[in-house]
Amino acid sequence: MHQYSQGKFTTQGHKGIPDGHFEEEQGRKGFFGPVSHLIKPEPSTRWTRIDGPLKPHLFDTVEMPKASGQWQRLLFNRDIGIYNISLPVKDFKPEALRNADGDTLFFVHGGRGQVFTEYGLIPYEKGHYVNIPKCVTYAFQPSEDTTLLTIESRTSQFREPDRGIAGRNAFYDLAALLKPNLKLQHSQKKQQNLSFEVVKVKREDIWTTFSYAACVFDTAGWKGDFFPFALHIRDLMPIVSARVHLPPSIHTTFVTNGFVVCTFLPRPLETDTDALKVPFYHQNIDYDEVLFYHDGDFFSRDNLHAGMMTLHPAGFPHGPHPKAVQAVAKKTHTDEVAVMIDSWNQLHIDPQFEKFELKDYWKSWMKK
Ligand SMILES: [Fe+2]
Repeated sequence: MHQYSQGKFTTQGHKGIPDGHFEEEQGRKGFFGPVSHLIKPEPSTRWTRIDGPLKPHLFDTVEMPKASGQWQRLLFNRDIGIYNISLPVKDFKPEALRNADGDTLFFVHGGRGQVFTEYGLIPYEKGHYVNIPKCVTYAFQPSEDTTLLTIESRTSQFREPDRGIAGRNAFYDLAALLKPNLKLQHSQKKQQNLSFEVVKVKREDIWTTFSYAACVFDTAGWKGDFFPFALHIRDLMPIVSARVHLPPSIHTTFVTNGFVVCTFLPRPLETDTDALKVPFYHQNIDYDEVLFYHDGDFFSRDNLHAGMMTLHPAGFPHGPHPKAVQAVAKKTHTDEVAVMIDSWNQLHIDPQFEKFELKDYWKSWMKK
């Protein structure tokens, strides 16, 4: 398709937006498909009323009860389940689990500990992604109270992103993946006199218990390219441009058939005076977008704290809050750490999670 333009337009997206105007991106396939930039005198988030279900949502996971080890479902569809899991140290009994519904990516929102797996031990701390492939047996053992944002891919494995022209080692080097350590696991088991003789398996969200006469973590050795691993956010190297705001997809950390996981990290802001510094207003026409606020100063939104989650369904434009647009002028870098999950299919809100919604969120773009 050829490009076409009318009226006021820019020759480079997110740059040189005429004074007193706002840019809205309308694009297909996330940030990869056909795209146009509309120049408007007001942001498209200036609604005065919304009637009907298509509202932006804000939830507070901090308010959820700390139910030890329970998979508290937040959002879901056929491709994905997003859960909150708390592992308090007090009276914690490590149990061996196996997820036959899909691959599980745990993002360690808080805490520290280790994960026993059939492939060896994986130590974790705040800021780690821990990837446990489908049907691999594992057991968390927290040494500090742990909170896990749990992302289950029900239709495919988590894969590394396509790095394209940025090169093979961009964003993160595969050498940064923390591999399981079998020797350390055997010594930990011995030292703690631990034996896992029961495995709980989840299939179609129903748990089945398998009991054994001896410990299930008894692997003597292994080879192959299918194994659990961890990746810490400090080993992610954000890609930035001094001249122009890059789309969120540049922060893609893992991809699946149904959704992508991106990590927003502290990074320097654009230095060109005509470059847009806040995330651009856009319609993610083909994706429902989830943001989990992990740590730092969330400058693009008002009144947010760590542990909050937003859901911006496809079908309406969104973008920074009016205060953020003003505040960014003085900023030279971002401090926020957030995990974004963009889902191709529509996400549903678990009725239990609805209780933790802050219902007035849709009003937060209105000028006060
Ligand atoms: Fe978005």
